[in-house]
Amino acid sequence: MPRIVRVDPATLDHPSSQAALAQACELLRRGGLVAFPTETVYGLGARALDAAAVLRIFSAKGRPLHHPLIAHVADEERARELASEWPERASRLAKAFWPGPLSLVVKRASHVPAVVAGGADSLAVRAPAHPVARALLERFGEPIAAPSANRYQELSPTEASHVVKSLGDAVDLVLDAGPCSEGIESTVVDVRGDPRVLRPGPLGLAELRRVVAELAEPSGEMEAHLPRPSPGMDTRHYAPKARLEEVEGAELAVRARSYRGLRLGALVRGAWELEALVCRMPLDAHGYGQALFASLHALDDAGVEVVLVEAIPAEAAWWAIADRLTRARAG
Ligand code: TXA
Ligand code: MG
Repeated sequence: MPRIVRVDPATLDHPSSQAALAQACELLRRGGLVAFPTETVYGLGARALDAAAVLRIFSAKGRPLHHPLIAHVADEERARELASEWPERASRLAKAFWPGPLSLVVKRASHVPAVVAGGADSLAVRAPAHPVARALLERFGEPIAAPSANRYQELSPTEASHVVKSLGDAVDLVLDAGPCSEGIESTVVDVRGDPRVLRPGPLGLAELRRVVAELAEPSGEMEAHLPRPSPGMDTRHYAPKARLEEVEGAELAVRARSYRGLRLGALVRGAWELEALVCRMPLDAHGYGQALFASLHALDDAGVEVVLVEAIPAEAAWWAIADRLTRARAG
């Protein structure tokens, strides 16, 4: 078991919180791995400028070396130091949405080890909004490379217990601040050249386009333009152990009966009564996103074999959830 320390975002100035942050910084400085909360999901952090420490992230996750990580920073000024070019639209996006659930892909400065970016000449940077992440970044004073704190192709962690379940002793310390408020990984935007969304996330296309009107939306086609597939682009990703099936609400009961004999789970939005382990999901997209990974973790823990997912609205607010469900089904 890794060391797990509870850090209450409301009492960060408390000596016990300060001691936890000091310990986290000490571990990072020595090349260790620290899992920490962000507003999206928990991250598995290492000192970004220490190539050996960053390599430990890849082995802890079992992640292929060419899949790039996000460098987390305190603010735009710190992000600029990691980029060899900082387009004007990057500034506009940072000013509008940082700190927050937005990662910007820029040209990587040469002093940032290539391993952070999976060998690419680009780099994703993000200033997270979670008070514990911010306190850690400010205290550490250097960028922290962090993917989601789960093993490769497993569900993202939105609670400290998910991190421990997935990574165990591979992580040195887990800062536990309770459940993440967004629950869905950051929106990733490539701001080089023709700007485009690489991964849908909590920040929607309409909000982003108010700042960068020419922003292109993610498309399957676009994946072919990337030099290599990056993790959010894999068809199989965010996958639970159970098989997921999307079903219209009115057909849930019949489908559930057809699976009699299997251990069945369901994510439902309506008041349907089913012979299954039912997770009642919030009706709004934000609430649904917040609960999504935790619900899938709980169903996996219960040994469910099939999860029926009640169809979600085909509305812009649901884009990131639709994306995660599609990828989970592809598993
Ligand atoms: O919300 C989040 O983004 C969380 C928290 C911890 O910040 N992190 C996260 O990291 O989800 P990860 O490694 O699980 O996903 C990183 C995503 C990948 O899907 C990849 O598509 C994209 O960011 N990415 C990172 N660097 C990139 C690069 N240089 N070029 C293109 N895409 C990149
Ligand atoms: Mg991930």
